[in-house]
Amino acid sequence: MIIAIDGPASSGKGTLARKLALHYGLPHLDTGSLYRSVARRLLREGADLHDVGAAESAARSLTPADLSDPALRDEKTGEAASVVSAMPGVRAALLDYQRTFARQPGGAVLDGRDVGTVICPEADAKLFVTAAAPVRARRRADELKARGEPADEGRILEDIEARDRRDAERPVAPLRPAADAHLLDTSNLSIEAAFAAAIAVIESAVHQSAAERPPEKPAGP
Ligand code: C5P
Repeated sequence: MIIAIDGPASSGKGTLARKLALHYGLPHLDTGSLYRSVARRLLREGADLHDVGAAESAARSLTPADLSDPALRDEKTGEAASVVSAMPGVRAALLDYQRTFARQPGGAVLDGRDVGTVICPEADAKLFVTAAAPVRARRRADELKARGEPADEGRILEDIEARDRRDAERPVAPLRPAADAHLLDTSNLSIEAAFAAAIAVIESAVHQSAAERPPEKPAGP
């Protein structure tokens, strides 16, 4: 079973995807970490973030060490990721890895921006997770404070809105729900309530696709 979870920054899609992966015993890929790794490499090397050649070459040569860099979750890296992720060559370089991950035997849970639209249009269940921008800014600020880091909620809100705009307006794989995605607005939902709603959507999508499958022919003599 392939479960695609898309949505904007700090919508809660990552937490939801991890919980669903645990629940169904499926491997999970946070596809944002790939774009963050590309951006992080450029920042570390002091390269220009808009240098398409450098970004594409970083995307083609990511290593497990890049993917486990603790600085990946920084605000600055998230911002930079939304710059490199608009480059078609960067997206193309990361496509096969994501598709292969999704199509492994048994399936997987992937979260990102274009999982249901580009990476896995054939996913068994698609969720588009949203929340109002001020709610997302508050969640992000709480997360930073819990880690003992400074958090200016007003500035975080501006960054979130700028990132939403950049992700939604880029010509390649823009942030938008797949036509067959179920919208889940978590603005007023706890993590547990969002999880329960997601399970209900997935169970119903799976039953529906089983019902639509042509019946198996009985084994003949
Ligand atoms: O989800 P996360 O905040 O880690 O993503 C960082 C950035 O990577 C996003 O703002 C977006 O620009 C980009 N991204 C993307 N496509 C994905 C996942 C992330 O363009 N599938």
